[in-house]
Amino acid sequence: MALDSEKFKQVLGCWATGVTIVTAKHQDEIHGMTVSAFSEVSLDPPLVLVCADRSSDTHGVIARGEVFAVNLLAAGQHDLSNRFARSKDEHLRFEGLERKQGATGCPHIPDALATLDCRVVQAVEAGDHVIYIGRVEAAEALDHEPLLYFRGRYGRFHAPGGEPGPNPGSGVSPSTSS
Ligand SMILES: Cc1cc2nc3c(=O)[nH]c(=O)nc-3n(C[C@H](O)[C@H](O)[C@H](O)COP(=O)(O)O)c2cc1C
Repeated sequence: MALDSEKFKQVLGCWATGVTIVTAKHQDEIHGMTVSAFSEVSLDPPLVLVCADRSSDTHGVIARGEVFAVNLLAAGQHDLSNRFARSKDEHLRFEGLERKQGATGCPHIPDALATLDCRVVQAVEAGDHVIYIGRVEAAEALDHEPLLYFRGRYGRFHAPGGEPGPNPGSGVSPSTSS
């Protein structure tokens, strides 16, 4: 029996994520949307991925320009997340934001937790999405807390015991080689 799509979405909502705004540029056109489907891929070479709905305008701009920037949002930036996710008034998404751009020319979101400037090395068609794998040309982080997303709601990181993980500070999965 086929998996019910509402059930599938409900189960996927159990995966707590950060929230990003992925921006793109092609010639004079800039665009961006809220994306939670982001992941590190490789340390050497430095690769990350984002999944973009084929029906999104951002997908089209990434496909044409072959560059994107991933802006990891900081705690308190949920209004920006909502703004970049709404289909209404999407031409106003960058309005009032300080104009900053990264190594690839894609817009940076001011005061984001971190930004990664990427050049597309591979685009993999996967169902109704396209997985863009990007080589990271520049990366920066600020000393902010992250914006989190779980079951359709925004939240903040909370470490009750303050227990460090096995690779404290890096946020990159520990190497599995011995
Ligand atoms: C928290 C959150 C996470 C989202 N994650 C993604 C995602 O990973 N990939 C995607 O294509 N859309 C995602 N969206 C939906 C897009 O942001 C939304 O469809 C947007 O309006 C697309 O804009 P565009 O068509 O102007 O590019 C997400 C929305 C929210 C609120």
